[in-house]
Amino acid sequence: MSSHTDQSGTVAGSNAEVSTDEHTVHMKIFRYDPEVEAKQEPRFDDFYIPYEKGMTLLDGLLTARDKHDQSLCFRHSCRQAVCGSDALLVNGRQRLACQTQISDLEEPIRIEPLPNQDVVKDLVVDMTHFYDRMHATDPYFDPDETPDDGLEEQRQSRENREKVKLSTRCIWCGACMSACTIAGSDDQYLGPAALNKAYRFYMDEREGDDKHRERLEIIEQEHAVWRCQTQFSCTNVCPKNIPLTEHIQELKREAVKDQLKFW
Ligand code: FES
Repeated sequence: MSSHTDQSGTVAGSNAEVSTDEHTVHMKIFRYDPEVEAKQEPRFDDFYIPYEKGMTLLDGLLTARDKHDQSLCFRHSCRQAVCGSDALLVNGRQRLACQTQISDLEEPIRIEPLPNQDVVKDLVVDMTHFYDRMHATDPYFDPDETPDDGLEEQRQSRENREKVKLSTRCIWCGACMSACTIAGSDDQYLGPAALNKAYRFYMDEREGDDKHRERLEIIEQEHAVWRCQTQFSCTNVCPKNIPLTEHIQELKREAVKDQLKFW
C-alpha cells in the first residue's frame, strides 16, 4: 500500500482526451495501483469531462470512469450525502464528492484520496483504522436494564434528544479524522468522529450509571479528549455540520467534573 500523506505530490501522466472547450471540466485525479506495474508509482492523470449544469463532483468521477478509464477506482453508493463512502480530498479540502457542485470548484480540480490513510487503489483508502477507532467507543445504545417486553419504547425527553441531535448525524465518512493533525501523528488517538460517537451516547439520558461510568473511562483515557488541541479542523470539514470540536470540549468538562473532589 502507498501511504498518501503528501498533498503536494507530483503531477504526472495523462490518459484523457485534451479539450479546450469551455464546456469541459479539467480534473486531475490521483492514481495508484500496487498490482499494476505502470501505476505502482503514484501520479495524477488529467481528465476533461463534458460539463452540465448541476453536475456534482461524483458525476464527474463517474463520467471519467465510464467514458474514459474504467480502471479508475473510487467508492460511492447513496449519491445523497448519507452513506459517507465518497469522502475525498478536493483542492486541498475534505469533501463528499456527491455533495460538491463542480461549479463551486476552481480548475483544474485536484482530487486525491483522504490524507493520513493508506491508499488501496486510486481514490480508495483503507478505512480499517478509522472503523477500529469508532468501535473502540462502543458506538451503540446500551442501557443498564432493558424492558421485559422487548418492544416497549425507551423514551427520551425532548430536551435530551435536542442535546444529542447533531451528534447523531455522523455518517462515518472519515473526513474529520483525515483533517485532524493530531490523529495524523497519533495512531492511538480516538479522533473527532469516535469522540463525537462517545458524546452521542454519554449524553443520552437513557443509559444507566454503569454504562455512563464505562463511557467516561473511555473519554478520559490518555489518547482521547485531552489530545484535542481545539484546532477546529474537524468541524470545518464535517459534511454534516456537526460541531465536533465543541462536543469534544464538552466531554473535557465532563472529565474534569469527574475528577473534582469536594471536601
Ligand atoms: Fe453516499 Fe456520497 S455517495 S455520501
